[in-house]
Amino acid sequence: MFYTTADGHPFEHNPLTAIVSPRPIAWISTRSADGVDNLAPHSLYNLTAYAPPQLMFSSTMTKPDQTRGKDTLANIEATGVFAISTTEYAAREAVNASSGGFAKDVDEFAAVGIAKAECRTIDCPFVADAPATFECRLDRVIDLPGQQNYVVLGFIEAVHLRDDCIVDGRFEVKTYKPLARLGYLDFAFVGDTFEMPRPG
Ligand SMILES: Cc1cc2nc3c(=O)[nH]c(=O)nc-3n(C[C@H](O)[C@H](O)[C@H](O)COP(=O)(O)O)c2cc1C
Repeated sequence: MFYTTADGHPFEHNPLTAIVSPRPIAWISTRSADGVDNLAPHSLYNLTAYAPPQLMFSSTMTKPDQTRGKDTLANIEATGVFAISTTEYAAREAVNASSGGFAKDVDEFAAVGIAKAECRTIDCPFVADAPATFECRLDRVIDLPGQQNYVVLGFIEAVHLRDDCIVDGRFEVKTYKPLARLGYLDFAFVGDTFEMPRPG
């Protein structure tokens, strides 16, 4: 089967996100200029560099009470900071619930019932029980072609690790089952892992 993206796919649903699977889910927390805390999952997310540590995520579309992107983007552009918590299978319902279409004056931590903690290096909340959290400072927002498509680039300034996830000096993913997004309505978690030595 072959199609060009200009002509379009022949399916009922776009296979794009199923093709780029699995994707880690970043639980992104921010604080608005008015002091309203915000939390939303993003799977268009990854590390971009090690030194200094940097990451990216993409925000697509906007919402009725914003003109540029969603609450997450608006808050980051207003404050220059954000936190990213890793997600786990045990938190899957809360992760999904926090993606609901909440108005910008609604705190998703409170609305969904997610425990909140305060970042140490930035003025921003984060998911208290998450396996790991990055405290991040905005590098830049890149406006992408199309309507309301943005890439957010940031620096990782501090890292929180949950104590029970540290085993024998490693941050051990097998302790918490990382949650991942596939295509359509599908999710997955990391269960089995294996080691493979690098070629010389
Ligand atoms: C698992 C999952 C992954 C998502 N990934 C993204 C994403 O990468 N980018 C995006 O713009 N929206 C993504 N969404 C949708 C946002 O979470 C949703 O639009 C949310 O309401 C945005 O909240 P905000 O307005 O508080 O920023 C995702 C939703 C779910 C459930």
